[in-house]
Amino acid sequence: MSTERVRPVLVVDFGAQYAQLIARRVRDAHVYSEIVPRSMPIAEMLERKPAAIIFSGGPASVHVDGAPTIDPAIYESGVPILGICYGAQLIAVQLGGEVAKTGRGEYGRTDLHVRAAAGLFHDQPLEQVVWMSHFDTLTAAPPGFSVLAATATTPVAALADPDRAIYGVQFHPEVAHTERGMDILKAFLHDVAGCPPTWTNVSIIEQAVAEVRAQVGKERVICGLSGGVDSAVAAALVHKAIGDQLTCVFVDTGLLRHAEAEEVEDTFRKQFAIDLVHVKAADRFLGALDDVIEPERKRKIIGETFIRVFEETARDLADASGAAPRFLVQGTLYPDIVESGGGDNANIKSHHNVGGLPDDMDFDLVEPLRHLFKDEVRAVGEELGLPEEIVWRQPFPGPGLAVRIIGTITPERIDILQKADAVVVEEIKRAGLYRQIWQSFAVLPAVRTVGVMGDDRTYAYPIVIRAVTSDDAMTADWARLPYEVLERIASRIINEVPGVNRVAYDITSKPPGTIEWE
Ligand code: XMP
Repeated sequence: MSTERVRPVLVVDFGAQYAQLIARRVRDAHVYSEIVPRSMPIAEMLERKPAAIIFSGGPASVHVDGAPTIDPAIYESGVPILGICYGAQLIAVQLGGEVAKTGRGEYGRTDLHVRAAAGLFHDQPLEQVVWMSHFDTLTAAPPGFSVLAATATTPVAALADPDRAIYGVQFHPEVAHTERGMDILKAFLHDVAGCPPTWTNVSIIEQAVAEVRAQVGKERVICGLSGGVDSAVAAALVHKAIGDQLTCVFVDTGLLRHAEAEEVEDTFRKQFAIDLVHVKAADRFLGALDDVIEPERKRKIIGETFIRVFEETARDLADASGAAPRFLVQGTLYPDIVESGGGDNANIKSHHNVGGLPDDMDFDLVEPLRHLFKDEVRAVGEELGLPEEIVWRQPFPGPGLAVRIIGTITPERIDILQKADAVVVEEIKRAGLYRQIWQSFAVLPAVRTVGVMGDDRTYAYPIVIRAVTSDDAMTADWARLPYEVLERIASRIINEVPGVNRVAYDITSKPPGTIEWE
């Protein structure tokens, strides 16, 4: 397998939130896609040898001053083009069509009347429901274009110049509310642009393996495992590529979820036979956290201790073999590095660090997931044979249970929280809700309350259950868990976890709350 990348479909980002969604849908059609800023010069886009180019939607009107635009030379490039929403209006305006301010926009579900079940609408019904979100209206197609579809308000809801392979749709085929959206995208990608549906989990793995081999040669590689899906899949991929040149380091902070350390060890050492250094550093972390209650101090101490432990381990590895590992694996994902945004300069986000490792460590980075979206990472993890518990695990904060134990952190309090948390996770899984819920866990507050159990008065800790739905953790809503599930969790925690006599449910969304309590 060569390391030459497949020809991408470029999604030109015109500043709306849709570009990533379009790129993901293209991949769902098994075609590799990349997002580029609209400020990228055409020559640079063409250097990537795109198989097709898609203009995303945008929030702006083509008529306002400073409306985003693109060098019209792109229409002469011969590369098939699909404009979506704003992208379609831009094509129309630049090629001599008409976009009018009719004062009648269209938003939400809209009936689309298709002229012929051909081209973008190959083999599809002539009446479809599509999702619209625009204010200006495409009223006349440019010379050489034909009108493929219309709505009650928009006379040109889809247009095409098949000779130049330039297409436009006023609606959003990438959203689920557009009933035949995937079929329309597939018709463009597979039939019009001739992109073969070859972007599959197997090809992703082959490509990543070839790239890792080419990058690291015979050198040694180190990888920090956190128990989370990204570092796990990155490690499994690199291991597939270079076998025992890879050493994984798993730092057990003592602040992990119930049985998490054993599970990571079991999966990577026993199942995958990966060279794994399991650093049992709970005492060191607990010692450093002794009597610390301030949340930011907890985070800082844990971060620093983590880095020190990791660095020491890396040094020991070097001493043991004579040759220090030169490469460090990071689970950076595509959304972390995507060149999106519409300003004059591409807005490239900084890479995030798996396990909070510092940028100034003396390693070259290996980033086998840098082309992938999260759902692709999970699919690759499953294909590589990682257990479901790891592939579908909910996110977990770097500082671990420390930010869920309010007040002082002691072995007893960690034990209480691990047990209570295990009950929450088990019952949420049993109810079939684990994958729909962004995070579900237990929190141990620093108060005690009075209760009565049997004939005895108790004075013990409450446990707070936190369960939220979210797309990206930036905002979140409390999950409407069924009462029966809440009841089962509460009664099991009281019965099974000594030291707890009360259970509460946190019904705060984010904002104003955060997901974690600290
Ligand atoms: P908050 O509590 O800010 O959390 O709403 C948002 C998301 O980030 C996770 N989180 C962290 N992840 N290191 C991490 O790697 C951290 O220090 C950290 N703090 C919070 C949290 O679990 C949620 O998914």
